[in-house]
Amino acid sequence: MSKVKKAIIPAAGLGTRFLPATKAMAKEMLPIVDKPTIQFIVEEARASGIEDILIVTGKAKRPIEDHFDSNLELEMNLKEKGKTDLLQMVEETTGLNLHFIRQSHPLGLGHAVLQAKSFVGNEPFVVMLGDDLMSDDIPLTKQLINNYDSIHASTIAVMEVPEEDVSKYGIINPGEEVQKDLYNVKNFVEKPSQKDAPSNLAIIGRYLLTPEIFEVLEKQKPGAGGEIQLTDAIDTLNKTQRVFAHKFTGIRYDVGDKFGYMKTSIEYGLEHPQIKDDLKDLIIELGAKLSKEDEKKAKKEVKKDK
Ligand code: G1P
Repeated sequence: MSKVKKAIIPAAGLGTRFLPATKAMAKEMLPIVDKPTIQFIVEEARASGIEDILIVTGKAKRPIEDHFDSNLELEMNLKEKGKTDLLQMVEETTGLNLHFIRQSHPLGLGHAVLQAKSFVGNEPFVVMLGDDLMSDDIPLTKQLINNYDSIHASTIAVMEVPEEDVSKYGIINPGEEVQKDLYNVKNFVEKPSQKDAPSNLAIIGRYLLTPEIFEVLEKQKPGAGGEIQLTDAIDTLNKTQRVFAHKFTGIRYDVGDKFGYMKTSIEYGLEHPQIKDDLKDLIIELGAKLSKEDEKKAKKEVKKDK
């Protein structure tokens, strides 16, 4: 059985949820405090034993390539000024086995993954979506790889989400729990309505797939939103070989929308050695100010009612 050594990071989306910031800049380069979101994904891959990463890029994605390349001028400048901490931080982003391919037509996640067919060859591999940052003792990608080493089958990471949010995700119809947090799956549905959703277990952006998925993707017709959906291809794959779902019990940060992004920035900021104390003071100050304002409003309402 082959080891899982390759990862695909689709990064060809238009980032419309962050316009105008993403008009000329890749959304994957938006920082959480001081680190671009895509760097968190690359670090998770590295910590999980992945050796080669293919980033599927699109328009305005050149900065991603530059970010993971060396910047000799900057490195020399930092060296001359003796800024060794910063130098180390900059050097950490280089020397990785990163590959890039452009998806000229953004036809959907399934189509983006299909671009990686020749890179992957005949090996199992992982797909890591950049909108989801994961935090747990063992990186989620590593958890999927550990599962693969014992079950040798495709496994998709899922997590419970509130019922009213199911239409934002791929949702599984779980079968029996074959071992702790590992489910057989009856079928997969992309973005079902709340009334049609078979559960509230949502796909959360980490997939371990066998290479047979490419044969399915080649024939995959557009699905939800008129896009070639990875979820639909996984559902078809599940009819010819077993696909499992692994329930993630760590913390997921959704940086794919404005509020999730702000929330993640604040939570990571509260852990950041340089700003955590000031940020904590600011939050306490704002909390006090907001509750005073609420009190005032409530008093005015009471007066009006009298
Ligand atoms: C994609 C997948 C969806 C999955 C989600 C996780 O949707 O198509 O199945 O649940 O990522 O973040 P997107 O968020 O790109 O619309």
